[in-house]
Amino acid sequence: KKSVDDINVKGKRVLVRCDFNVPLQDGKITDENRLVAALPTLKKLINDGGKVILCSHLGKPKGTPKPELSLAPVAVRLSELLGQEVKFAKDDNVVGDNAKAAVAAMKDGDVVLLENTRYREEETKNIDTFSKELASLCDVFVNDAFGTAHRAHCSNVGVTKYVDTAVVGYLMQKEIEFLGNAVNNPKRPFVAILGGSKVSSKISVINNLLDKVDTLIIGGGMAYTFMKAQGEEVGNSLLEEDYLDYAKEMLEKAKEKGVKLLIPVDTVVAKEFSNDSEFKTVKRGGIEPGWQGLDIGEETRKLFADAIKDAKTVVWNGPMGVFEMPNFAKGTMAVAEALAEIDATTIIGGGDSAAAVNQLGYGDKMTHISTGGGASLEFLEGKELPGVAAANDK
Ligand code: 3PG
Repeated sequence: KKSVDDINVKGKRVLVRCDFNVPLQDGKITDENRLVAALPTLKKLINDGGKVILCSHLGKPKGTPKPELSLAPVAVRLSELLGQEVKFAKDDNVVGDNAKAAVAAMKDGDVVLLENTRYREEETKNIDTFSKELASLCDVFVNDAFGTAHRAHCSNVGVTKYVDTAVVGYLMQKEIEFLGNAVNNPKRPFVAILGGSKVSSKISVINNLLDKVDTLIIGGGMAYTFMKAQGEEVGNSLLEEDYLDYAKEMLEKAKEKGVKLLIPVDTVVAKEFSNDSEFKTVKRGGIEPGWQGLDIGEETRKLFADAIKDAKTVVWNGPMGVFEMPNFAKGTMAVAEALAEIDATTIIGGGDSAAAVNQLGYGDKMTHISTGGGASLEFLEGKELPGVAAANDK
């Protein structure tokens, strides 16, 4: 696939789709990993003398401009990170008169950021009108928004129909290389760790990974459905009754495939979903009515760490417990620690697991932390991502 290394952007207008969908609190960016991850591509295009026009979505304004979902704070922070002005093209139409004027005034090496693409209702419906407007701003299109690659929207898919040249950026390349190699060409033993609250959101991931891994570890909220499927009572823990049969099927599939499937052997249970709640650790089968599991127990932490110890490739997606609450963070911490210690390729799916690893201070111990939540999950499901396919088809 062609990348930014294969094109000459000198003097050209380059539209770069990034994923600047970052969490904001009172106008401040609370996690800037996605901005930092975009820098290599941006620096390359700036150094090569392109006129660098950036675009992204932020949140879900659903076609209605909302000041709290403006990308203005991103322009400010990006300017600091790049050490040069990123001019914000304030424009509720995204590609309206202000944006066009800002682009017309650009010199080689300048950077302009457009307003939130989801201010336009066409964006998420991938309607051509907006795709054409975006394409009209540029000579070359670069897709570096891995985090958005599972969406087929105007700014990452539709636009490619109307540009002559579409390539991928360094972040997109890096994500696909690490996730792709891990899943399709792993050094073995290959261990996957899945957590998070819902089995229902990870059905296809579990199914696909059972064809690939040597060991599958299941923790977090989704583990209770697997525990129940094995006949254990789970009290008030998260349970998806509709997925009990599916869980049974997966336990069966693991056996058939010779995959070691590990689920918790003890659980930290609490009366309430609160860090201040009374809590204790119970053994397998010991969750009483009125109690809910909020983390894996100490024996499970050891069991999981032991299963990870000799791995050569590990993919982790989803926390082991309610890590935002200190009393229920030990399981997630133990997995992060185990990954930090081993000599293996360690890949962290985006979203909650990435946040957990960074928050717990293990960020730089991992081989790769994906900037994609939903996108990395769909990648692990073995699906072709529309954002990647569109750039590849050009
Ligand atoms: C993400 O944060 O997962 C991506 O930016 C996609 O955002 P979305 O779920 O609002 O489409």
